[in-house]
Amino acid sequence: MDKSDFFDNLLGQSSEFCSVIRAARITALTNVTVLILGESGTGKELLAQAIHHHSRRVSGPFIAVNCAALPETLAESELFGYRKGAFTGAVADQKGRIQAAHGGTLFLDEIGELPISIQAKLLRFLETGECQVLGKTQLEQVDTRIIAATNRDLYTQTQQGKFRPDLYYRLNIVPLELPPLRQRLDDLEQLLHTFTEQLAQQHELPPPRYSKATMKQLRHYHWEGNIRELRNFCERMVILFSKQTIETKHLPREFRSQKTALFQQIEGFILPDTGLNLQSLEIQMIRQALQKTYGNRTQAARLLGLTRDTLLYRLKKYAIE
Ligand SMILES: Nc1ncnc2c1ncn2[C@@H]1O[C@H](COP(=O)(O)OP(=O)(O)OP(=O)(O)O)[C@@H](O)[C@H]1O
Ligand SMILES: [Mg+2]
Repeated sequence: MDKSDFFDNLLGQSSEFCSVIRAARITALTNVTVLILGESGTGKELLAQAIHHHSRRVSGPFIAVNCAALPETLAESELFGYRKGAFTGAVADQKGRIQAAHGGTLFLDEIGELPISIQAKLLRFLETGECQVLGKTQLEQVDTRIIAATNRDLYTQTQQGKFRPDLYYRLNIVPLELPPLRQRLDDLEQLLHTFTEQLAQQHELPPPRYSKATMKQLRHYHWEGNIRELRNFCERMVILFSKQTIETKHLPREFRSQKTALFQQIEGFILPDTGLNLQSLEIQMIRQALQKTYGNRTQAARLLGLTRDTLLYRLKKYAIE
């Protein structure tokens, strides 16, 4: 695949999206640390890959690490590596992910979840390129570019003491914010048709068509899961309605009137002058929905105007039992 192909994987022509891609292309050619922001499913990982493949590091490795999946006790040795005997069980020298990505790019996904205890160490690496391998006194110089991503508001996390402000400012040199799908509705049609065509080919089925009324309804939908949700939706339509015209009555329930009704109710909600914490409001609403439905997740999702999958994702994300 040649270099430009990777940016071609990122579909979209809306101005909101194109300005991010333009900035990403320029940034790719430098060595600067990049912070990719955006809701779940907006294409953060795809963009990180495109930046790597468009950079001078293209022949080096691209390694992705999900910080949320790193247990605090292992995070340091995973990222920075260790020397034989550094701790019980360290039977041989082990490279960290930072060293493994030498000459290439390390993608630190969900950086907001990085344990605070190793944030200072990462900051030092970003500032000096020096890596402190566990059990080694000498620092190691490593040439790895960091691209970080988060769907959280890192600034708020710094206010809450969960993320080091100095690391935040260091990462935030070039923030690239991918817009949610509902803010790039000009792209909806292209994405919908491209995914439908691709998936129809993949499943060896004739593609379905979408009626005008259906298109309108889809534009009003909230698309919490963004492009991932859209792609999954297309796959479902290809499988269930191959060759047919999809009318609004064929749409899954959450796509019909429910969202619109939900927004009408929400219109009466007034933001207090003192502001509020949207994330804790969301957590409270999820808890209340589960209480009201005695823990029935399908019904709770319906009360919140979410798909069941989206609710399950959030339960996991906020560790709600
Ligand atoms: N602009 C785009 N054009 C085509 N496909 C896209 C685009 N953006 C995202 N996708 C597709 O949507 C899915 C989600 O993308 P990706 O994994 O990069 O999102 P993400 O922001 O990292 O999500 P999460 O926060 O949940 O990890 C993938 O299948 C990806 O290929
Ligand atoms: Mg991702």
